[in-house]
Amino acid sequence: MKGTIVKCMEELVTKQFGAGKWQESLERARIPKERCFTVFCDVDETEVMGIMTGIAGAASLSMEQLMEAFGEYWSTVYAPHIYEAYFADATSARELLLNLDHIHEVMTKSIKLARPPRFRYEWKGDKLLIMHYDSSRRLVALMPGLIRGLGKYYKERLTVRVVGNAVHVRFP
Ligand code: HEM
Repeated sequence: MKGTIVKCMEELVTKQFGAGKWQESLERARIPKERCFTVFCDVDETEVMGIMTGIAGAASLSMEQLMEAFGEYWSTVYAPHIYEAYFADATSARELLLNLDHIHEVMTKSIKLARPPRFRYEWKGDKLLIMHYDSSRRLVALMPGLIRGLGKYYKERLTVRVVGNAVHVRFP
């Protein structure tokens, strides 16, 4: 998985809990001191999960709280800064979500070893969007926090829930 996810976590933990907590998270995950994460480097899924468990321990958060905090930070601060163009192209959460499969496909094309999640869209009426998640990583649980974060970014009240391998998003 791309190092960009770890970079985002580093930024979040350092800003909200302090640099010491980030160091503690890495120590808890038994990540060697010389290990360096960049936006483009490849990071093993087990390493990412280990770091998340480390952060949860260091910052006294449940995994659920951490995924929510990560989703909010990614969608309201980190991604709008690093991947600005995608946010400039979309005027609403709905537009960005409908472009998300394309975004993941395109932005990982040039990155070696990237294996982006894929999304299939299904509408039930014009207010309920079902996003079917397809990835061997089984990280569907990360989606609600990320999508609620998009709602905050675009100042929209979205209701999000996971149903099996899909996420139901209700627009106002
Ligand atoms: C413009 C905003 C976004 C960008 C640029 C982006 C980009 C990325 C990148 C680069 C990865 C790593 C892929 C890899 O290593 O192969 C990733 C993973 C992931 N993204 Fe996004 N993402 C964005 C928003 C979102 C949102 C809003 C969601 C929720 C629906 C989402 C869901 C996921 C999930 C669940 C993963 C984990 C990898 C997996 O499940 O296979 N992303 N994203």
